[in-house]
Amino acid sequence: MAEITKTPEWQSLEKHYKKIKDLHMKDLFENDTDRFESNHILFDDFLFDYSKNRITKETKELLISLARTADIENWRRRLFSGEKINFTENRSALHIALRNRSNNPIMVDGKDVMPLVNDELSKIRKLSDEIRNGSWKGYSGKKITSIVNIGIGGSDLGPSMVCSALKPFGSKEITPHFVSNVDAADLSQVLDVCDPETTLFIIASKTFTTQETMTNAFSARDWFIDKAKKNEFIKNHFVAISSNSEAVIEFGIHPENIFVLWDWVGGRYSLWSSIGLSIAIFIGMKNFEALLEGGHEADNHFIAEPIEKNIPIMMALIGVWYINFFDFSTYAILPYDQCLTKLPAYLQQADMESNGKFIGRNNQKVCQKTGPILWGEAGTNGQHAFYQLLHQGTEIVPSDFIMPINSNYKLGNDKHNHHNILQSNFIAQTQSLMMGKSKHDVESEMKNEIDDNPDLKRLISHRTFEGNRPSNSILFKSLTPKALGKLIALYEHKIFTQGIIWNINSFDQWGVEYGKQIAKLVLPELESKKDTKAFDSSTNNLIKYINNNS
Ligand code: F6P
Repeated sequence: MAEITKTPEWQSLEKHYKKIKDLHMKDLFENDTDRFESNHILFDDFLFDYSKNRITKETKELLISLARTADIENWRRRLFSGEKINFTENRSALHIALRNRSNNPIMVDGKDVMPLVNDELSKIRKLSDEIRNGSWKGYSGKKITSIVNIGIGGSDLGPSMVCSALKPFGSKEITPHFVSNVDAADLSQVLDVCDPETTLFIIASKTFTTQETMTNAFSARDWFIDKAKKNEFIKNHFVAISSNSEAVIEFGIHPENIFVLWDWVGGRYSLWSSIGLSIAIFIGMKNFEALLEGGHEADNHFIAEPIEKNIPIMMALIGVWYINFFDFSTYAILPYDQCLTKLPAYLQQADMESNGKFIGRNNQKVCQKTGPILWGEAGTNGQHAFYQLLHQGTEIVPSDFIMPINSNYKLGNDKHNHHNILQSNFIAQTQSLMMGKSKHDVESEMKNEIDDNPDLKRLISHRTFEGNRPSNSILFKSLTPKALGKLIALYEHKIFTQGIIWNINSFDQWGVEYGKQIAKLVLPELESKKDTKAFDSSTNNLIKYINNNS
């Protein structure tokens, strides 16, 4: 494909941007009272309202042409057919196979992978059922009441986000814990509240070589053996999820306790695989399957819907419009549901590890910006922290406001209904970010105060809001396993679509390797406690300072 910035479609968008960049959304809504009608998409119980964006009918048409030029329709087919589109690692990217509920064959290297996927699902079902019904016993005959997932990145963020999102569906008798950081504080705090007789450790690492995970796994094993005394008891308390069975066996985990995943499952796309074991144990297999079902329905939506009715593609195009034309570099994820607190961090890895790349598929430096800096926080907490900048800062931050219409928690009465209050904040924020408040409106609002004290006139500009700050609203009926599956998969496909437009490989992560290599060189310098000249003067002196003070 020609460099995307050189295509006539991109150049038309550049011209169009100059024409409409100062248009105010308030005027767009005033001039078209049905603006919502032509700028939203319904998908099952999901509503995606993208009308509060700085786009016109022409912008949409031009963006859709851009998607066609990038050949997104063909690329989505290539993704689904198991082609090795992760070309820098010579792998397919087949997370869609993990949630393929139709069971149609999906081929990799001429072999249908669905039997492998289904076998693994059966193993997950067996173990999760046994733990939940108490037939799996710890070494002293007691039921398992704590599960500790030890993993990092994709082997942690997905399961941990889903378990907290779906807590209302979780077992009351089993507590899930997630340990990721190599900082001893993380594992120590979890071990402090666990009993070795009733704890199951899940060592989740695709490679089984990740420094943080292996360090935590060894310490967990030492802690367990210290209490249980016999190595043979490891069988009742340690399972592993990995594609490196040899390393798992060497670690001492029984071969029957190994769950596998394959090279075509990327870490940040792996919660649908056996990496989701902790999810299945906590919410039960039926709910885990509903999560998969939701993901599968979003896949069907992505593959089948035309661009203008396709939520992930429209999300992606609007994102491209802001990053590449308006030069808005960051993007906020604002879930109005406490259970989705971990969603921003989860999507940070999904998006930034996928599209934080400056080299294109043509092995050359790309000519435009790629992935946005993603961040966010649950509403309404964010409102009392960083929304000041969203409303009046010099940086404009396009945002996704996400909310289930019905809460899983009922609290309050007619006067103090938590969920109504939460919802009114959601609506108020998207509306006020878009509308702003003019000087004239502020002046009328302050009229009486100013009449009493004319000096207060100087406050008018401080209380003015420019507005024109874009957001998408994503609403769905309630936060069920199925709805969550849909939501996650919609974002995965948004990320994929943007990667295609930018012509980058969204499925490798060479960028995280360099720091890991250097850490291996630094470690012996810290262990030796001696001064070093191995690095630059800053690094050498940081090492010296640590050594002198430890
Ligand atoms: O450091 C990046 C990364 O490779 C992620 O992509 C992955 O999710 C994480 O590390 C964990 O890797 P593993 O599952 O092999 O321990």
